[in-house]
Formats: sequence, C-alpha cells, structure tokens
Amino acid sequence: MAAPAPRKILVTSALPYANGSLHLGHLLEQVQTDIWVRFQKSRGHHCLYICADDAHGTAIMLTAEKLGISPEQQIENIQQEHMRDSAGFLIGFDNFHTTHSEENRVWSETIYQRVKDNGHIAARAITQAFDPEKQLFLADRFIKGSCPRCKTEDQYGDNCEACGATYSPMDLIDPVSVISGAKPIEKESMHFFFKLPEFAGMLTAWLASDTLQPQVANKLREWTEAGLQEWDISRDAPYFGFEIPGEPGKYFYVWLDAPIGYIASFQNYCDRTGHPFDEYWQPGGDTELYHFIGKDIINFHGLFWPAMLQSAGLRAPSAIFAHGFLTVNGTKMSKSRGTFIKASTYLAHLDAQYLRYYFAAKLSSSVDDIDLNLDDFVQRVNSDVVGKVVNIASRCAGFLRNKFDNTLSAKCAEQSLVESFIASGEAIAELYEEREFNKAIREIIALADRANQYIDEKKPWALAKQAGSEQEVHDVCSVGINLFRVLMTYLKPVLPAMAEKSETYLQCSLDWTALQAPLAAHALDTFQPLMTRIDPKQVTAMVEASKETQPAAAVPDSGRDKPAPGAATADTIDFNDFARIDLRIAEIVAAEHVEGADKLLRLTLDLGEGAARKQVFSGIKSAYQPQDLVGKLTVMVANLAPRKMRFGVSEGMVLAAGPGDTELFLLEPDAGAKPGMQVK
Ligand code: MSP
Ligand code: ZN
Repeated sequence: MAAPAPRKILVTSALPYANGSLHLGHLLEQVQTDIWVRFQKSRGHHCLYICADDAHGTAIMLTAEKLGISPEQQIENIQQEHMRDSAGFLIGFDNFHTTHSEENRVWSETIYQRVKDNGHIAARAITQAFDPEKQLFLADRFIKGSCPRCKTEDQYGDNCEACGATYSPMDLIDPVSVISGAKPIEKESMHFFFKLPEFAGMLTAWLASDTLQPQVANKLREWTEAGLQEWDISRDAPYFGFEIPGEPGKYFYVWLDAPIGYIASFQNYCDRTGHPFDEYWQPGGDTELYHFIGKDIINFHGLFWPAMLQSAGLRAPSAIFAHGFLTVNGTKMSKSRGTFIKASTYLAHLDAQYLRYYFAAKLSSSVDDIDLNLDDFVQRVNSDVVGKVVNIASRCAGFLRNKFDNTLSAKCAEQSLVESFIASGEAIAELYEEREFNKAIREIIALADRANQYIDEKKPWALAKQAGSEQEVHDVCSVGINLFRVLMTYLKPVLPAMAEKSETYLQCSLDWTALQAPLAAHALDTFQPLMTRIDPKQVTAMVEASKETQPAAAVPDSGRDKPAPGAATADTIDFNDFARIDLRIAEIVAAEHVEGADKLLRLTLDLGEGAARKQVFSGIKSAYQPQDLVGKLTVMVANLAPRKMRFGVSEGMVLAAGPGDTELFLLEPDAGAKPGMQVK
C-alpha cells in the first residue's frame, strides 16, 4: 500500500506583544502549538510553524517613550528577548518575524486596498475621549475613574470589574487619563471602518461548518446574533504603526496588521528559503492553515480575520484552535504571590521539558483554563517521566553495557509485546492530531507501566546472579530498550531534548515513520542520564524570584512593607530589568500637606523643559516640612505607571533612604545636575 501523500500544513501561534516579557501563559500556547507541529513532522508531513512579534500600537509607543528609546529600539530589544526565551522552551519556530516589517507593510496595504476596492471600507467622523495634555486619543483601557453604577473607584473606561456594568469612558465619574492623569475631553476625528455586517452570511456558514470548537462557535454565534458592527480599523497620529496610504495622519489599527503578520512572516520565510508562497494563501489549494490562539482573541480570529481574507480574495483558515488561560495554584497569576512567572525566570531554575510535559499532560482540545499546580507539577513529572519512562532505560542500560557489549539480542524475545506497543501508535497519533494531549499522555504512561511491569516480573537483576541465565538477561533488557524506544518516539514531540539524547543512545531516529519492527542485534551508544528529578527547592526558588519586590531605596508611598535598615540586598536583577527603570533628576517646585493623610506630602515635580510636570504623593511628611523641599533637586522614578490613590493620581516616586518614617533622607544629585537629566 502506498503511503498517503504528506500533508502541507502551515501553523501559527498568536503574535506576542512586543511590549513585555513572555510569561508562562504565552508558553502554554507556544508549547501546545510546538507539540502539534513536531507531531506532524514526526508523522512525515510537511509542516511549518510561523510566528512574529506584534510590534504596533499605543502601548508600545508609550513604553518606548517612558524608557527614553525609540519604538524601533524597544521592539528590537523585545524581539531578541522573546526569541531567546522561546528557544529556551525548545519552541521550534520555522520563522519568527515582526509585524513592523516591509513584508507586513506591503501585505497590509495590499489587503486594505483590495478590501477598499470591493467597497468594504466606510469612512465617518466619531467622537472619542482625548488626553489634552498628551495630545492623544485614549482607548477605553487608558481611562480610569469610578463606576457610574456602583461607584467603585479605579475602574477602566469600558467596564466595571466590581459590578460588571459596561459603559463608555466618558460616563465614568471623575475620569482620568492613565497616561497623564489629565481629565479627558471629547474630540471628533475621521475613522475608517471595515464593513463586517456585509459578511454576516459568510460568517454564519463558517460558524455552522463544524471547523470550530463548539465553545468557540457558540461564543462567536452570540456576537453574530447580537448583530455585527462595523469594525474601526484606523487610529489617529501619534501612533506606532503603518500610515494608511492616501490618508495622512491615519494609521492602521494594530489589530488590522497583526494577523496579516502571519502572512508577512510566511512571506519572509519563503523569500529566505525559496519555499512556494502562493499555494498556502490562494483559495482552493490543498494546503492547510491553522491558528493556535488564546480564548481572549477569538473574535479577531473567528470573525474579522476570515471576513478580511474573503474580501481580499485569500483563503480561509482550515481551523482555529483556541485554548484556555493558564492559572497557577488555582488562581490568576499573581505578582505578589510569585506566581506571575516570566519565561526567563522559569528557565533560570528549571528544565523547560518539565513544563512541556506537565502542559501536555493537562492540555486538551477544549478552551477550559489549565492550572499549573506547583506541587502536582513536581510530583507528576518526577513520577511519570523520571520514575516511569527514564526508569525503563536506566534499569536495562547497565546490564547491556557491562555484560553484552552494548548490543541488543539477535532476536527480539517478546515480538508480540513490542508490536503491541507499536500498534498503539495509531490511537495515540489520533489523540495528538485532535489535540487531546492529556489523553495521549495517559495512553503513553499506561504503556510505560506495562513495560515496567514486564521488567519487574522478569527481574533481570535476580537473573543476573543465576548461572545459565545470561541469554534471558540479555533478552529481557533488549526488550526493555525496545519498549523504551517506542515510548520515546511517542514522547518526542513533548520532550525533544530528551528524545535527542535517546536517539544518540539508541543509534536510531525516533520518528513515527521509523517505527516498524523491533530493533535486534543493534549496537547502542553510551547511556547518559536522560533527565533528573525536580527538586522542590528549585520551584520554591523560582516563586521567590518571581515575587515583586520593592526597590530597597524607594520611599514606600502606601502601606507596603519597608525594608529593615541594613537588610540584605534584594534579589539580583539583570541589566534589562534595571534599564526599564527611568530615573530622572526632578526639581520639587511645590510641596504641600494632603488633607486627611498622615504620612503623605503632595509634590509637584519639574522634569525639565518640554516635559509635563508630575504630581507625586510621597510618604516623607514626618521627615520634611513642605517649605524646606521647594527648590530641591531629587531623583524620581519617571516611568512608574500612574496610580490612583485616595487623594489623587500619583505619577511616579521620589527616592529617599532611611530606616523609618522620621529618619528619611531624600536623594539629592551633586551640583550641576539639571531637571530632566536621566540617571544612568
Ligand atoms: N498580540 C496579540 C495577538 C495577535 S495575533 C495576530 C496578543 N498578544 S499577547 O501577548 O497578549 O498574547 C499572545 C497569546 O498569548 C494570546 O493567544 C493569548 O491568549 C495568550 N496568552 C496570554 N496570557 C495567557 C495566559 N495567562 N494563559 C494562556 N494564554 C495566554 O494577544
Ligand atoms: Zn460598578
């Protein structure tokens, strides 16, 4: 029977924002995608994994501004960091690009032009909140205030986390711009819209087509049934993105060019390698296209994206695979509990494959959230991977090396047992294909239990002491190694580094396509330890390193704990962490008591010519008289996100040292320093 022709598959995971570090939630998605891609490759299919950084938008522009670098520099730094972290988790991207690229500009303009030529773009003026100080239109998330319904303070401009009310940002009581603290005004400007309602028929058919997960289709149906709205795809300058051709001062909204980034990254791959491009994006071909995404972005991928593609004459995705959110120890990742774990922090303490295995053991095709329970993590990895799988090989390898010249017996003594392991491969492959990784792992570990049971029954260690049992010892250990080989083939998509070490030891490839008959009279290489147990101390150390700590010299401006005098210095941070803190010389131009506050002074800080003055609440009231502070130069953290406090918004922090409330010493620069200078 001729083998079926290999499939041609293009796979993406969502493009991470170039605005911050990868954390374990991002890695849940990349690991899920990577396992699926590696599985397809192991099955002999042609499968490519494409990703990129999502580099545009207001948030990235503001981050760069606060860091005092250009957005181009910011996204370049982050791209390097993202690529390094993903590589650390053994994510095998075939291409990792950026949406701020020439390929993406060309594709965004092309698609926009086609959509516009088809009459699917509308233009009209809308009124929006505007920050008069920053001269910037404000997205709902950049405005905070009290909920108009339940009066809870500090709520975002779109909905209330306390009572669930949804509203428009100008309905907030005392709204403030999160960026400057200024009160937003309303302002009109021209915007461009994608006419999504014209695709209602096509989308209804797409939702009924069975290609989507039931939970995803239901969610999307709620939106279509509530009536599709036109989608605002433009933003006003200043904006970091692509200017819309022929519309000066208007930019493509980041979510327009982000999914186009999938095409652009693939274009970049094809240009680099000579791989054919068109057959993957033209309708009606025999290629497959899959997007792995989190459940928070299904509207972009399940509604706007297929409609845009259709209008532009491009193919629709074969399917969209949405996953749930990662929680740690049962709750949302938390900086104070140390469970908001950055990819790099994890890698500094633990082997990536531990987490890959744990995620695989929990992932399914549903969009349910996935919990990383840290105790369960240690227990599960140690017992399954080290205690069961590695154990099979390490129990047999010693005898083979010491007594049998590292060569397997001439004939497999348990042909049918090994063949039954190989025969299980089709059912396991089916589970991988369906993204039921948890069930695949369950099957594989059940096989590992059977293999260990076989060795337990045969007791090669006891046989080795009996005269005349040489052949049996050789046979039993050879069978054990054969069973291990089958299991490692099934685990290779999850544990690629361990599989590679095993390939060296076994002197054979661990691909699904190579699994046919047991190995006999086969020479092995030297056995090296494949994986060690997790020491729970490593996990504790990772959690400790993830806890958000106060910089030792910062003045606590609210009820946070203060470091004791002479306390040990805080955890080491890397240079990039340090470089993210924008310290500036500031002149205190006003200082006043705050009514009702017993520790705080309200300071007005001048950051030099051209910079907006900042208001900072500082807990130095017991150490300084307001009038003594005016005119002093000090050091401030200028890029601390504004925080709404009981008495108003605090837009930074001044630095002071000292053991307690009454003994506090404000940091002052040496003579010659000027307001606005950056501290380096
Ligand atoms: N830039 C957009 C995606 C554009 S795709 C054309 C974005 N970026 S993101 O950095 O916020 O998220 C990237 C992916 O990580 C998304 O699929 C998101 O769902 C996923 N996750 C982010 N936090 C997550 C968890 N805590 N848990 C699981 N996945 C999470 O959205
Ligand atoms: Zn409310």
